[in-house]
Amino acid sequence: MDLMHSLLLKLPPELAHYLSMQAMRSSLVRQQIQSRFANLDIYKREVNIAGLIFANPIGLAAGLDKNAEAIDSLSHMGFSHLELGTVTPRPQLGSAKPRLFRLTERASLLNRMGFNNSGKDIFLQNIRSAKARQDVKIGVNIGKNKDTPNEQAIEDYKELYDFFRHECDYICVNVSSPNTQGLRALQNLDFLQTISDLVGPDSRVFLKLAPDMPTEIFIDLLKACDSWNFKALTLTNTLNVEAQPDIEKKYGSGGLSGSLLRMASREALVRARQYSKLPIISVGGIDSSEEVLWRLEHGASMAQLYTAFVYGGPNLINNILQEL
Ligand SMILES: Cc1cc2nc3c(=O)[nH]c(=O)nc-3n(C[C@H](O)[C@H](O)[C@H](O)COP(=O)(O)O)c2cc1C
Repeated sequence: MDLMHSLLLKLPPELAHYLSMQAMRSSLVRQQIQSRFANLDIYKREVNIAGLIFANPIGLAAGLDKNAEAIDSLSHMGFSHLELGTVTPRPQLGSAKPRLFRLTERASLLNRMGFNNSGKDIFLQNIRSAKARQDVKIGVNIGKNKDTPNEQAIEDYKELYDFFRHECDYICVNVSSPNTQGLRALQNLDFLQTISDLVGPDSRVFLKLAPDMPTEIFIDLLKACDSWNFKALTLTNTLNVEAQPDIEKKYGSGGLSGSLLRMASREALVRARQYSKLPIISVGGIDSSEEVLWRLEHGASMAQLYTAFVYGGPNLINNILQEL
């Protein structure tokens, strides 16, 4: 498995991602993962969010398994939860390739995937047929199709919410990807109030926000969140590369994740803790037990990661859990 991981890192990033997803779908690899991480039960450190009991504070962030294809393998790697998606109502191809870049020396990624996914029907078949570890929670991250105008975006979210609400442990509303034009404009009081009303007080719906919206708008949203029906905040999505003109010049538009996002994600956590009482799932540049502890000590209930998993491979979660 370790050899395979180092070989994958030598391939172009999206090809490596595709091959690793294919591998994780095979029963051979799933069995290897199962036997390698058979001792995960000893790392229980439960977290309760909205009555959901997570076995430990580390989850897989959205975007790695966009179609819910590799649940069986991923659920045996130590994560307490897998956030799958972003899924949109209809299938869509996403942005033109290349759209995923490794910034290896900065332990970061730049992506402009653009919600490439097979749509809600295939996604549902996949979660229904998965055989995840019993104690691993499944979150479905939902977003609007690229060709749905913002004025009709609410219909996409409603459709997905109705479709998945009884099929998973929680739903995460994603209005914060920088790679769907206009999506981040939905991070406004009116739209989020409408979604909150739509899901009602008994739902398990989380809200994922961007790290780089203007401070006053962020504070207004945080204050409003406590009276809405979202049960947790997921902070944050990727950082618009516009903040790093040298990188944008070289690779083009997109969102930064990994080390280059760490400070902005930490700041969002600290600010959110100041203005909102909701549980926070902190995500962005988390790559070690020290970083997980920093987030927990600064008010996060849980952590998620993606980029560090790409660079660190399947052992990473096990190692972090051991050290926690
Ligand atoms: C290639 C890639 C694709 C992503 N796709 C999604 C997505 O579809 N939906 C979403 O909410 N976040 C997506 N993200 C953002 C991650 O969920 C996470 O918020 C971000 O990468 C920060 O965490 P990290 O620094 O641990 O990677 C994606 C990130 C990457 C690197």
